[in-house]
Amino acid sequence: MPQKVENYYNYIYAGRIHSRRHRRRKRIGVWILTLFIILLIALLFYIVFTKKQPKSVPANAGGSAISVSEPAEEADTSSRATESAEPSHTTRIIDGRTYIDGILVVNKSYPLPATYDPGLDPEALSAFYRMQKDASDDGLFLYITSGYRSYAEQVAQYNIHVQNKGKDYADKVSARPGFSEHQSGLSMDINSTEDSFANTEEARWIAENCVKYGFIVRFPKDKEYITGYAYEPWHIRYVGIQNAEKISESGLCLEEYLGIKSVYAD
Ligand code: DAL
Ligand code: ZN
Repeated sequence: MPQKVENYYNYIYAGRIHSRRHRRRKRIGVWILTLFIILLIALLFYIVFTKKQPKSVPANAGGSAISVSEPAEEADTSSRATESAEPSHTTRIIDGRTYIDGILVVNKSYPLPATYDPGLDPEALSAFYRMQKDASDDGLFLYITSGYRSYAEQVAQYNIHVQNKGKDYADKVSARPGFSEHQSGLSMDINSTEDSFANTEEARWIAENCVKYGFIVRFPKDKEYITGYAYEPWHIRYVGIQNAEKISESGLCLEEYLGIKSVYAD
């Protein structure tokens, strides 16, 4: 073959090899990029889904509450996040008070420190005044019979019940000192604390409307075995409008809603 032609063919051949190599390199580049993107996505998923999930630890305040699922934990004097009995709830213990999903919990399992002395919560009181005004527009008069009660006042209240009808009865209708929601400043007894109150217009109005102002009827009928207390149509608890609506829509009492118990340790 003449030299010139041979060079020409070599040139063409070299060109083909070059463009094949170029295509292969391009393909490899695309594969590496795809692999990199897949790894990046996998890494993102890993970070999102392995983020610390709340685990099951007891929600205990003051050291005397019962353990819900694991051994009791000492109360803390600082703000810190722990987790509640159910993974879907978040428990915070702040200075011996237990907050589950931001709701201050006070029942037979979750006491308040004896020194906790906040007075009646101003937000709860304003909510009550709004409710009182609207009830009044409907021709009903609502008033607070008992709002904030200090630890010392609860001692007196509980002891009266014990003296009158014994401890077993007292524990159904009155909280032991340190275990009353009244000490939280977030609960109120409205109008009468007689059983007959249940059949009044006022009780019906409260049951139907209190949610709109951020209250729940804390010890509902037929939930005695869960709340630990007899039905109290007069005892309302301020939890804020959003919580009240959610709790009310669930049809659950607060213990069921938060997945907790209300049982004295002794
Ligand atoms: N009567 C309610 C349970 C209280 O004493 O707090
Ligand atoms: Zn009450």
